[in-house]
Amino acid sequence: MSRKPRKAVFPVAGLGTRFLPATKAVPKEMLTVVDKPVIQYAVEEAAEAGIDHFVFVTGRGKGAIEDHFDLAYELEATLKARGKTAEIELLKPSRPAAGAASFVRQQEPLGLGHAVWCARDIVGDEPFLLALPDMLIHGASGCFTQMMEVYERHGGNVIAVEEVPHEHVSRYGVVALNEKFDDRTHSITGMVEKPKREDAPSNLIISGRYILQPEIFAKLEILKPGAGGEIQLTDAMIELIAEQDFYSYRFEGTTYDCGDKIGFLSANVALALSRPDIASKFRPVAELLLKQ
Ligand code: G1P
Repeated sequence: MSRKPRKAVFPVAGLGTRFLPATKAVPKEMLTVVDKPVIQYAVEEAAEAGIDHFVFVTGRGKGAIEDHFDLAYELEATLKARGKTAEIELLKPSRPAAGAASFVRQQEPLGLGHAVWCARDIVGDEPFLLALPDMLIHGASGCFTQMMEVYERHGGNVIAVEEVPHEHVSRYGVVALNEKFDDRTHSITGMVEKPKREDAPSNLIISGRYILQPEIFAKLEILKPGAGGEIQLTDAMIELIAEQDFYSYRFEGTTYDCGDKIGFLSANVALALSRPDIASKFRPVAELLLKQ
């Protein structure tokens, strides 16, 4: 039986230059979609899937993320004194249990693979979840919850994938598939990071959610820089495909790339329209704006 992942890794060291000046003093992961920071959506998705330890790979200027996932003692004491129990409830999902959040710094921006490698000592010799928080995935059931079901059936490594228009493949990691297990699950035979459109093996892209075995760290350790001169996680996974099973899973849900202005704005509109407490007030405003 496959060991159940207990920890999730969140690389959050990126500079967020696409959102300057907003990200001059505020980490891009703390920008809000409706009323929650982008990072909290990924953390809640992992918690829903049964994860109980959250590992953040941070960098300079990211202290607000540590404060966010901590007990805000003065705030909670003030809310309690004022009898604001509903507001105290709102804070709970951003307060992991004592000792259940770890922070490690990626000192230099050497790539996603390097960021993941920085978490090796905290993850240890266990399978783990990896979430790229920019990719906000919204659906009835969390993407990680769906992936865990695949993992329980097959073990190995599970990668969330989705179809994109062929002209967009060069922005992502792209997978090559082989055997089909069900409509959403295939075995992966290859991958390529940021291929030219004509070299892409498919239009199924890696969507920023992974379940990985700890052997990935040894591959990352000796990896040479790849696409964009960066240490690429995809290249380490390519090495591991020769030794372990990799499964692609086409999840149910919609992805919003919050690292991009249009994706971020779309996430705000879509999630506001899906929120029972806001939708009825927001919809007529949004419709009016579109008519202008
Ligand atoms: C990273 C991964 C890529 C994946 C993408 C999803 O790229 O390297 O394989 O498809 O995230 O957002 P990045 O966006 O960091 O360039």
